[in-house]
Amino acid sequence: MKVTVIGSGYVGLVTATCLAEYGNDVLCLDVDVSKIELLNQGGVPIYEPGLEEMIKRNRAASRLRFTSNIAESVAHGTIQFIAVGTPPNEDGSADLQYVVAAANHIGRHMNTYKVIVNKSTVPVGTGDKVRAVIAAQLTLRGLNASFAVVANPEFLKEGAAIDDFMRPDRIVMGCEDETASDLLHALYAPFVRNHDRILLMDIRSAEMTKYAANAMLATRISLMNELANLAEILGADIELVRKGIGADPRIGYHFLYAGVGYGGSCFPKDVQALQRTANENGIQLRVLAAVEHANLAQKSVIIHKIKQRFAGNLAGMHFALWGLAFKPNTDDMRDAPSRVLIEYLLAQGATIAAYDPVAMIEAQRVMPHATGLRYGEGPQAVLKQADALVVMTEWKAFRSPDFAEMKALLSQAIIFDGRNLYEPQYLAKQGFEYYPIGREQIYPALIARALMTEPSEQALNLA
Ligand SMILES: NC(=O)c1ccc[n+]([C@@H]2O[C@H](COP(=O)([O-])OP(=O)(O)OC[C@H]3O[C@@H](n4cnc5c(N)ncnc54)[C@H](O)[C@@H]3O)[C@@H](O)[C@H]2O)c1
Repeated sequence: MKVTVIGSGYVGLVTATCLAEYGNDVLCLDVDVSKIELLNQGGVPIYEPGLEEMIKRNRAASRLRFTSNIAESVAHGTIQFIAVGTPPNEDGSADLQYVVAAANHIGRHMNTYKVIVNKSTVPVGTGDKVRAVIAAQLTLRGLNASFAVVANPEFLKEGAAIDDFMRPDRIVMGCEDETASDLLHALYAPFVRNHDRILLMDIRSAEMTKYAANAMLATRISLMNELANLAEILGADIELVRKGIGADPRIGYHFLYAGVGYGGSCFPKDVQALQRTANENGIQLRVLAAVEHANLAQKSVIIHKIKQRFAGNLAGMHFALWGLAFKPNTDDMRDAPSRVLIEYLLAQGATIAAYDPVAMIEAQRVMPHATGLRYGEGPQAVLKQADALVVMTEWKAFRSPDFAEMKALLSQAIIFDGRNLYEPQYLAKQGFEYYPIGREQIYPALIARALMTEPSEQALNLA
């Protein structure tokens, strides 16, 4: 099938590439000319595991092409996916200017039947808006071409986007046009081969499903974070509590980790936008307001621990930072909790040496003026002479480090762990002060006790 994908960001690029992988003829449009130039030279503007090779393969087979020519892109696909950004406005509502611009472009150039499929996360009612924009352009042109609008929200997760797209747990399709529905069922058939996972519904329900899913997930995270803060005070261990509640099938183990708050390009803006929609309709989503509030507070939990440990005086101190991206396997820095920490430490007169396996270039781009922040070549390289290590992203490479080497490199053996990667008692035995989230905090007195209970070498030899 001939498919056009409008927008070559995280969602657009993955959508275009995965559709090409199954043999479709895909043209991907972006108004950002430098992005298209990079893609046409074989570069990839984002990090997503497996994406680069897949793009390469499909470009070589001429199934995937990139353009900034709008007329060409509209002429190409019967199916036109819209995958442009919907960032938040000042008031938290979704900014639809890019979606509307894409719709205007389609209306201005289309001459034959088109199916416009909205993959961007958009408020309920946007389908009607897109339809009206295109119809207005057609009227201006005196053209009576028919078209259908479909809501097909995307549920892929950055870091696992290709797998999510190739093996979706569901494809939500808000479609009220039979021809469009047949075309999309045919397009998605290879992705749902072993059993049908296409959920056909009306456009408004499809639009709302995306926000409802993100609201539910953000709620889980904020609740776990608040429970973790309480567990820490009560002397309970949130990791054990997590296992205890996750065993209940009504709760499940997924997405139950306590940490430094959610970030990224979706949850913060979608939680806000859904509240905004509710307010505009005279309803308050009280739970979501609390979820957002709790998340903002959680982003400061590590900061409070650091302040407390160093008696508030951080000027002249030097910190090592592991992890910049808002989660592992992506270079996305949008609303990353690391940014809140970096801003705070630098404002206090501290310096930072940071390492992230893939997000350092993006970090430099989004924080170009962060004097006092430098980047290292590897996890060990940034530890030298740091007063403490702070872990902000749970990359695999950070999970089993050489603690003896770390201790030798750090000027103080102190770890603030925003992702609960290590076992508190084990770190105590290694002689580390350790401050995780919602678990036992290992401070100097506890290290002394842990080291005393360790059998001495002499005693072992005697035995
Ligand atoms: N990133 C995710 O994990 C994710 C997951 C599910 C849904 N979504 C939603 O998908 C949408 C896109 O998100 P993203 O992360 O891919 O955004 P992004 O910012 O990475 O990419 C958007 C791209 O669209 C381009 N663009 C803007 N206006 C355009 C136009 N008129 N014509 C052509 N290109 C245009 C931009 O230049 C940019 O390259 C958002 O609504 C987002 O909420 C994102």
